[in-house]
This record gives sequence, C-alpha cells and structure tokens, in this order.
Amino acid sequence: MNQRDKLWWRHGIFYQIYPRSFQDTNADGVGDLRGIIGRLPYLQSLGVDAIWLSPIFPSPMADFGYDIADYTGVDALFGTMADFEALANAAHAGGLRVILDLVPNHTSDQHPWFVESRGSRDNPKRDWYIWRDPAADGGPPGNWLSEFGGSAWQYDATTGQYYYHAFLAQQPDLNWRNPAVRRAIYDVMRFWLGKGVDGFRVDVIWHLIKDAAFRDNPPNPDYREGRPPHERILPLNSTDQAEVHEVIAEMRRVIDEFDSRVLIGEIYLPLERLVAYYGKDLAGTHLPFNFALLSAPWNARGIEKIIFEYEAALPQGAWPNWVLGNHDRPRVASRVGRAQARVAAMLLLSLRGTPTLYYGDEIGMHQVAIAPEQVRDPFEKNVPGIGVGRDGCRTPMQWDATPYAGFSTSTPWLPLADDFRHENVANLDADAASILSLYRALIGLRKKLPPLVSGDYVPIVAEGDLLLYRRESGETTVVIALNLGAEPVSIKSDAAGLSGEILLSTFLDRQGEKIQGALDLRGDEGVMIGTSLVP
Ligand code: NOJ
Repeated sequence: MNQRDKLWWRHGIFYQIYPRSFQDTNADGVGDLRGIIGRLPYLQSLGVDAIWLSPIFPSPMADFGYDIADYTGVDALFGTMADFEALANAAHAGGLRVILDLVPNHTSDQHPWFVESRGSRDNPKRDWYIWRDPAADGGPPGNWLSEFGGSAWQYDATTGQYYYHAFLAQQPDLNWRNPAVRRAIYDVMRFWLGKGVDGFRVDVIWHLIKDAAFRDNPPNPDYREGRPPHERILPLNSTDQAEVHEVIAEMRRVIDEFDSRVLIGEIYLPLERLVAYYGKDLAGTHLPFNFALLSAPWNARGIEKIIFEYEAALPQGAWPNWVLGNHDRPRVASRVGRAQARVAAMLLLSLRGTPTLYYGDEIGMHQVAIAPEQVRDPFEKNVPGIGVGRDGCRTPMQWDATPYAGFSTSTPWLPLADDFRHENVANLDADAASILSLYRALIGLRKKLPPLVSGDYVPIVAEGDLLLYRRESGETTVVIALNLGAEPVSIKSDAAGLSGEILLSTFLDRQGEKIQGALDLRGDEGVMIGTSLVP
C-alpha cells in the first residue's frame, strides 16, 4: 500500500448516511442495509470515497440508535450481520470505505452492562457507570444538566443512588475512568476493525471524561431565553477534561493496530479547544470534526475569519476538515437558502481539508416542517417548541417522483419533503444545471486538480458579499470567488489581479470563459478559475 492510500482520509470525500432515511427495501418505512447496498452505485457515481453510517446496532431506538444495547450486533430493523458484511464487501469492491459510528460515552439502559450495574450496589458492573449518592436533601448530586432537558442525574430506586446521563435517562454514561470499560470498548473497536471497517466517527468524544469530583458547573452569563435549557450552565466540569486526551490516545493506538484506518471525533467546542483533539504529537483523532460552518454567520468577513482562525489554530502537520450539515443540525439549504446552498457547496469542496457531505445536501434537501403529531426526536419531545427538533433534517432521501420518493413502498417513518416530486435524484440528474450536477462537477474537479486537495489556502479578499481565496500548489493555482449575496458583484483587476479561465460556475454555464483582469459575478454565484496570478 502506498502512502497515498494510507492517507486516503486526507484526499477523500466523506458522505454521511443516516440509515433510517436512506433506502428502505422491506417496506417498513425505515431504511436498511440492503437499501444502502442498492444505492452504492449512486454513491460511486457521485464520486465520494467513504460512507459513514449513523448507528446500525441493536437499540431500543430511544435516540434512534445512539442508545446501543449491543455494540457488536446489527439491529434487525436494519438487517443482519450478513447484510452488513455484504455491504462492507460491496462498498470495498467499489472503492468506497466504510466508517461506523462508535458511541462509547453512553449505552442504552437496556444494555446488559447497565442492567447488571443497576442491579445492586455491589454488582461487578456497578462501577461501569456513574453512580452517586443523593444530595443531603435527597435531590440530585449536582447541577449538571442533560443536553436533552432536565437534570443529568436520574434517581434509581432499586439502589437509592443517582446515575449520570448527559443525554436521555435511557442513555446512562459509561464510567471511562474505569479501565474495564475502556478495555471493553477497545474490544468493540477491534471487532469491527477486524471485519474490515475503515474507521469510526466517535460520538461526543469530548464528553468521555468528567470531573473526578463532579463539581458543579458554573452558570452561563450569556444564556438567552429561548435557547435549550442545558445552556443555562457552562459544561466546564462535565466535558472536555484534560484526561480525555489519554483515552483518545488509547483509542488511536487501537486504530493503529490496523492498517490505514481513521479516527474521527464529534466535538462541539470553540476552535482553540477543538484542535487539542488532534492529540499530543498528533496521536489523537485524525479528524476532529470542524463544525464551525454549521453556525457561521453567512457573510464573507465572518467566513473568512473562521477559515483564518482555524488554519492558524491547526497544530503543525494536522489535517483540516469541514462540515456543512449532519443529522443534528438544520439543513444547509434552509440555513443559507436554496441559492446560497450552491455557493456553500463550492466553499465546502474548495477549502483545504477533508469535506464531509450529509446525505441529501447534494440534491438541496431542505429542513422539513414537522407537525407536532409527527415529532419523533426525543430532544424535541422533551424541549418542545423552541426549534431544537432534528427530525426535519432526517427526512427520507428523495430518489424519484414515485409516491414515497423511491425511498420506500410504504409510509416513511418521517414525512417526505413536499417538493420531492421535483427535487429528487432522478430529476436532478437529468438537469445539467441542477445542484446535483454542480456537486458532481465540484467533486470531479477536486479529484482532477491537486491544488484543491493539497494546495495551500491563501486568502485574497473578503469584502461585502465577496469571498475570494486561492488554493495553490507549485505552479498550479485555483482562484475561488464566491458571491455570498443576491446582488451582482464585480471584481476589478487591481483588487485581485487575476486572469485565467473559468473552470466552473455554480450556475454551470460559464466553463471555459476567459477572465482578463476583471470578473463579474451574478447574485448567488461562485466560480472557480484556473489562473496564473499577474503580479
Ligand atoms: C451526538 C449524536 O450526533 C446525536 O444524534 C445524539 O443524539 C447524541 N450524540 C447522543 O448520543
């Protein structure tokens, strides 16, 4: 295996699949592994290099698979282990890597480990979870809050103690200070890596270790009404503890027992804290997810500032990455608008660092409004009415114009977007100017032009709605000009000094146009220019 193959996760493009919503083959309205197998040709033709599957393991589905009852099985809803093996084989045969979701911070309360743990105070598994005596008044042992609403401490009458759950009460946190827990999860990793899985996206990795004394979290002075209630306190003692990096280094050593695997961390922290998750001597996660664009103010200065600060914060030799959407955040097409979603695509696929696409973003899927009686997300059920619901970004993939969008032959578990009859893969594939065609073209260019993968990022200008930068390696340079607004923008020669040929416009209609010292961008247009910079 050559070096390029070893570092596939640097030059590759990741694609997140939310299995419940990708493709149903057994008419139960929920996607499954056979469905993903059937759609591999689509993913190959799109040109992505790796698929990351949100959890597929046996689960009561209180948090749709992020509550795992058996780490080394496959939930019957999704299929069988044989189906998974068939999927991994077919993906590999077609040049696609497979990343699984590892959820080590918590299990389901139905996991045999927890069933044992809660059985008695002297059960051997007692210390696998986090148990504390009640406070003097009988209340919870501290002020930590669950991200899904309410106290993070749940009283358990059987043994008269509270257990800690950063998310639902049905998701008790494992005690990562216990070496037996670590060993058990590392064996889970080995199980899947041994099956040929190419790596893991590790759920809430910055949560794994909590303050040893469980000291209270401080109040958040910036809390605003209307924000989720857990934001009333700052999770300074419940997350992002120094010792977490020892755990991650251990996980990385497990990953490195196998050839060319990747460790990705889910981390919502400010950039300066995030980059610590590359680990000492880069022996932590290969890719700590960079979610900065998920909440970026959509203007040129704001985005350039994020890129600049991220690039500046990266440790020597660390490889960057970028994300525009995932199963927890509103769809990019709704955040920035349909027209800007194309510009966002060009941004994502022209920045320095591994891009992760969220299923459906390539066809411009938008956030679907969910009626109260259709809500499935436990976060929305616990904290209703302030817009935290995640169902709207998890709706079925829109494949074609048949009654259930080609996703299923019966009613899907979440409603389809009302525009699926037009906005679907079949339709957009037939339209040379569609967002899907744009994604295909962007991915194709990224594969063809080395500067887009390995070139330096060089900012040029961020002014008004114009964001201009270049990617350069050696002699080759690509200039990217993005208009983040709806009004036309003109770039004058003395401002940017560029000349060359348009490689791609987000409208897909200017390829080959010669640029000589000036560039006019239409509203909501981005272009890539193969250029030589005139001094
Ligand atoms: C992060 C996952 O992305 C989210 O979907 C889940 O609800 C929480 N972790 C809890 O596992």
